[in-house]
Amino acid sequence: MSVYQATASAPVNIACIKYWGKRDTKLILPTNSSLSVTLDQDHLRSTTTSRADASFKKDRLWLNDTEEEIKEGGRLATCISEMKRLRREVEEKDASQPKLSSYYVHICSRNNFPTAAGLASSASGFAALVASLAALYKLPASPSELSLIARQGSGSACRSLFGGFVAWQMGSLPDGSDSLAVEVAPQSHWPDIHALICVVSDDKKGTSSTSGMQRTVETSTLLQHRIAHVVPARMEAISAAIQARDFDAFARITMQDSNQFHAVALDTDPPIFYMNDVSRAIIALIVEYNRVSVANGGKLKAAYTYDAGPNAVIYAPKENIKEIVELIVKYFPQPEAFKDPFGLFGAAGVGEGKLVDGFNPAVAKPFGVGAVKNLIHTRVGDGPRVLRAEEALLGTDGLPK
Ligand code: DP6
Repeated sequence: MSVYQATASAPVNIACIKYWGKRDTKLILPTNSSLSVTLDQDHLRSTTTSRADASFKKDRLWLNDTEEEIKEGGRLATCISEMKRLRREVEEKDASQPKLSSYYVHICSRNNFPTAAGLASSASGFAALVASLAALYKLPASPSELSLIARQGSGSACRSLFGGFVAWQMGSLPDGSDSLAVEVAPQSHWPDIHALICVVSDDKKGTSSTSGMQRTVETSTLLQHRIAHVVPARMEAISAAIQARDFDAFARITMQDSNQFHAVALDTDPPIFYMNDVSRAIIALIVEYNRVSVANGGKLKAAYTYDAGPNAVIYAPKENIKEIVELIVKYFPQPEAFKDPFGLFGAAGVGEGKLVDGFNPAVAKPFGVGAVKNLIHTRVGDGPRVLRAEEALLGTDGLPK
């Protein structure tokens, strides 16, 4: 008897031009285009195994070993039924294909990073779900076509169907068929872009992206200005910066857009605050680090960006990451030794950190151990990968291993 099963992994992406606002909440159509960097799956990824079998009694999904309800009409159910629809098209064209679209599926998904880290896992999660079903169903679909479906799981997930530098074109059609992800440049175009994620300790339950952005759409006048007059030019300018590997321009636009996203959150009624004192201190450090470089006749050396939470993501060319880690560690002593995947520090490790010459130490006050819980050093990475059968998360019984 044949086993119909496939496993895929998909990356996390962090936006430089932020998606914030929907014009259609069911189809997940955004009010502006956005652009992100795909991060390396060697460090952060979701892995998903999907299996179709005539004996299964219903569609089931396990996320990090806990079974999740697949609510009728919900985002998961939409993605699964859209993928079955594409499979049906394959079966209608080629009668010799097994009728997998009529079978229920079992889906098992795991992240290799803790949910508690506060890193958005919905983007990599829905991208891995769509990629594994596309492999299971042997769909001829392109990453852009698959992004149309991942988008309906979580907007930002559509950008995780590509590696490198990725735009989500907002589109204009009411059915959403032109609201999809496209590759701006592959990972190989600019592999030197690295990222340092500062995982910031956060006790309070923040406002979710989904509800926060809807409130912004309903109440913020600044959002309307952003949509009409700011984002279109920034999308052009940052795409050109990426094509030209112009880090200075890339950094400037990335920081401006993070700032404006948090400004529209503040312009929401009631206001939404995603950054905290630690987030703002990291901004002050990066601003000062860049100021020193420019004062010495250089260019911007790092860019911060923040999503709907207090964590900082710092983009920088690889050659600057050592200085940036030393800077962050100086103000934010680490509870555990820095994991050094690129071997920047050798056996002695980071130590207590240090500041570059000319850095004004008074721009921020030092924090206690654990204010920044963890530092993750990664870089721009590739798109979803189809994995070997041995890496499957479902056992022979069709249940999580
Ligand atoms: C701040 O994609 O999580 O990270 O579409 O409602 O699932 P839904 O929202 P989501 O929002 C992400 C918002 C952001 C910016 C971005 O990734 O572009």
